[in-house]
Amino acid sequence: MDARVGLKLPRHFLDLSQIDARILRRVVDMAHEMKKAGKRVPKSLRPKDIEDMVLVMIFEKPSTRTRVSFDVAMRQLGGQTIGLNHTDTQLGRGEPISDTAKVLSRYADAMMVRANAHATLLELAEHATIPVINGLTDVSHPCQIIADILTFEETKGVIAGKTVAWVGDGNNVAASWMHAAVKFGFQIRVATPAQLKPDADVIAWTKAEGKPDTLVLTDDPAEAVKGAECVVTDTWISMGQTDGPRRKQLLGPYEVDQTLMGRAAKGAIFMHCLPAYRGHEVSAEVIDGPQSVIFDEAENRLHAQKAILAWCLGVD
Ligand code: CP
Ligand code: NVA
Repeated sequence: MDARVGLKLPRHFLDLSQIDARILRRVVDMAHEMKKAGKRVPKSLRPKDIEDMVLVMIFEKPSTRTRVSFDVAMRQLGGQTIGLNHTDTQLGRGEPISDTAKVLSRYADAMMVRANAHATLLELAEHATIPVINGLTDVSHPCQIIADILTFEETKGVIAGKTVAWVGDGNNVAASWMHAAVKFGFQIRVATPAQLKPDADVIAWTKAEGKPDTLVLTDDPAEAVKGAECVVTDTWISMGQTDGPRRKQLLGPYEVDQTLMGRAAKGAIFMHCLPAYRGHEVSAEVIDGPQSVIFDEAENRLHAQKAILAWCLGVD
């Protein structure tokens, strides 16, 4: 409730940088609880009147995990879903984003969007009167990192005070990791080629909002992973990028292989949001080896989405 105007504001989930740290901690704690509870979500974690609620999902790009985990999550909470590719809607023919947001707000109770441009997500959120959830944009992927923190904590304990190394492209997933480092109080070491550093705004925000040692930026993967409890990478060519050959050339020295993993802390875990390309950003030996937790991470998208939906729909 916005006390100034007496209006109920939607609980959007747009970026970790914009949500209070205590709320984010609660969302991850709820994700742990959701996982323990399994398919039968306890009443205390279910939004009031969830059986009357519908989640609309709009995809401007392909998705396996985000699409299916949000769909199953909403159903397990007790609600219903509608999944749309944007070309099936009038958005694909140029209907204003603001009109779409207002219309969908009259039918549904929450909206999850995977958008090409972050500006589309922000415009939907500005005009929607229901919660809007970021299911990945060119800029960030916050829902992924809620699942990743759940995954980290299952093996390594509370993430505050720990060290995570990001190796490869300074992309949308890296941006949400950097936001998370500030909000959850851990160190993020980011190793990228100079030409593929994270977004300047994200770097500036992390430096301004974090502690002096929250962010380490380097072009040296070995420096980033030294003693880290977790090593993370992602595809070298994100959806919509067209400069594949240039990226492959720049990122060649950034493959996460067994030698690099050997420099991390003893028992360090390897994470990747998937889809992965073996022999490029990660060797098959690492991603299919004993340190890899990629399938727990993928499963945890489901538990994380339930927690995110629960918070957006009113559970505290
Ligand atoms: N990690 C992730 O978001 O996967 P999808 O593209 O399959 O949704
Ligand atoms: N960085 C990747 C993540 C896919 C889940 C992309 O944007 O394509």
